[in-house]
Amino acid sequence: MNILAIESSCDETAVAVVRDGRTVLSDAIASQADMHALYGGVVPEIASRKHIEAIAPLADRALREAGVGKADIDAVAVTYAPGLIGAVLVGVNFAKAAAFALDVPLVPVHHVRGHIAANYITHPDLSPPFLCLCVSGGTTAIVDVRDYTDMAVVGATRDDAAGECFDKVARVLGIGYPGGAPMDRLSQGGDDEKYPFPAVHVHDAPLDMSFSGLKTAAINLIHNAGQKGEALDLPSLAASFAAAVSRTLVPRTMEAARRLGRDKIAVAGGVAANSRIRADLERACAGEGKRLFLPELALCGDNAAMIGCQGYYEYVSGRRAGPDLNAYANRDIGRG
Ligand code: KG4
Repeated sequence: MNILAIESSCDETAVAVVRDGRTVLSDAIASQADMHALYGGVVPEIASRKHIEAIAPLADRALREAGVGKADIDAVAVTYAPGLIGAVLVGVNFAKAAAFALDVPLVPVHHVRGHIAANYITHPDLSPPFLCLCVSGGTTAIVDVRDYTDMAVVGATRDDAAGECFDKVARVLGIGYPGGAPMDRLSQGGDDEKYPFPAVHVHDAPLDMSFSGLKTAAINLIHNAGQKGEALDLPSLAASFAAAVSRTLVPRTMEAARRLGRDKIAVAGGVAANSRIRADLERACAGEGKRLFLPELALCGDNAAMIGCQGYYEYVSGRRAGPDLNAYANRDIGRG
């Protein structure tokens, strides 16, 4: 079965054609990152308008590159939550119109479920149950994936997402937007113990996390150095910061896996591209005899192939939406 998949939850417009959940026939993406870089972050109004300009030509391109016609599409899957609401609405409305015009079912997909599904594309042998660390610009959560459409959050950030912290620190350093990848490059060769950052624990919730104090500590350190005219060792600052983020994420993920008895651990979302977090997880999993699944770098960020993949499993489980499908800025991943 061929699914036309639509993604527009943040600053990437994406349309893909995915066959039977795991075969990506095309994956067309139009990134707006250069536009938002001018402002140091995503401007929601601009994101919505850019999605509107991009989405129809992108759908034509996705069909062309997949080598299929409109009549070959069996269902339309779309990210309906979570995300920037005006941005998500563009994709949802386009998907409704497409499903109506093609007379095929419309399948709503939770964006973070999509990120998790990116792992199925990279690893054809991966199937639930497994534990997934979901880390992106808007989400930081440890998710127990009991089945393709049955999942629960077992630990999450109480404030900022990890990706947002990378972006804010990079912005203060003036090294670009989005900041995670430039911070990662900057950290190479740095001393990860040079700048001590706080480790935050949430009282009575050992699997939950907090990143706002870490972000503030890094920003204060940069501002204080600037005010005193002191030069910072930037590679070491970036390496120490990445190490601190990893120290929050990795032990909690391992602890959750132990508690739930999961022997497979996956990672999902843009921050899954981080070299320090990947290396620390690889080491921790090897030490405990757990299998680690990392999505290929191209599938870590937002894309529509992952929505087509998860859309297939949602379709198989009977999930459908009508023309009244709405978009949501926030939605529990357990509800789907
Ligand atoms: O999954 P994604 O593309 O969008 C959301 O759904 O949020 O994630 C984007 C986030 C941004 O915060 C970006 O800075 C971060 O992923 N990111 C990274 C790296 N590459 C992207 N963070 C740390 N290290 C990286 N190498």
